[in-house]
Amino acid sequence: MNDSTIAEQIQGLKKARNAVIVAHNYQNDEVQEIADAVGDSFYLSKLCATNPAQCIVFCGVGFMAESAKILSPQKTVLLPERQAGCPMADSVTVEDVRALKAQHPGAAVMCYINTSAEVKAECDVCCTSSNAVKIARALPQRDIIFVPDRNLGHFVAMQLPEKNFFVHDGCCVTHTRIGLRELEAARKKYPGAPVAVHPECPPELVDVADFTGSTSEIIDFCRRSPAQCILIGTEMGILHTLRKDNPQKEFILLSPRLVCSNMKMTTLESVRRSLDEGRYVVEVEESIRLRAKTCLERMLAIAG
Ligand code: 13P
Ligand code: SF4
Repeated sequence: MNDSTIAEQIQGLKKARNAVIVAHNYQNDEVQEIADAVGDSFYLSKLCATNPAQCIVFCGVGFMAESAKILSPQKTVLLPERQAGCPMADSVTVEDVRALKAQHPGAAVMCYINTSAEVKAECDVCCTSSNAVKIARALPQRDIIFVPDRNLGHFVAMQLPEKNFFVHDGCCVTHTRIGLRELEAARKKYPGAPVAVHPECPPELVDVADFTGSTSEIIDFCRRSPAQCILIGTEMGILHTLRKDNPQKEFILLSPRLVCSNMKMTTLESVRRSLDEGRYVVEVEESIRLRAKTCLERMLAIAG
């Protein structure tokens, strides 16, 4: 079957199931094309909570689909590829969070949305890369435990010197594939081009970049920038929207290794099969879900 036949079938199955298809900015181009909404993790988590469709097909990775289920337990949430996970989310366990709490009693416990439901259930408040600074600033506590991304933790800590951060040592295998060497080589090749990176990148990159933000914030920055050529330090899936939005501009990925293999698992065929066979259903145990929901809802209340 070719892509347009599969895309047609997806539209029919979607109607029959009263489903909405959402896709993260890192998904394969053709998956982004058939999605009803494409965005960063904050936008998608809000959208899933408010969209009236009975079924959500989440083209992304496990923790994203799980967050949708936590916020909308009455809906069927489908993850087209069961194996699509996030190694960063897997790097922190409930035991790790409990150990940090024991070491720093009284500290607020903040987690990146890139965590399991069980870890969220142990934390006070969640955040995404687009609102982490805002959330940390709003917390009354001076001491803040942050899990799991050391690079996002560092990025937030740099902007809030009045707070004390205790950061778990996790990171993204994709964003840590690049370093200063790639950035300097690209700056030499494209002199004057601004550099936009994701806060999951190593601090030495973030420190010298012209812009740091979530995937959707990078997309906004590139839309607004008068520059004709922009260097991009995040997963390559973002290039699809960047090039569609700005056909006259040139976007250069800092490294061809900026590919998240988990995000790339989802294909048109897996979305079709997901709708056809109702798989893979995301479930979260109710006592965990209720605590994780509080953690996510605190984020939504602060970040709006
Ligand atoms: P965003 O929140 O910027 O979409 O990022 C999610 C993610 O997993 C980045 O690696
Ligand atoms: Fe996880 Fe990194 Fe992939 Fe984002 S890009 S889903 S943090 S592995």
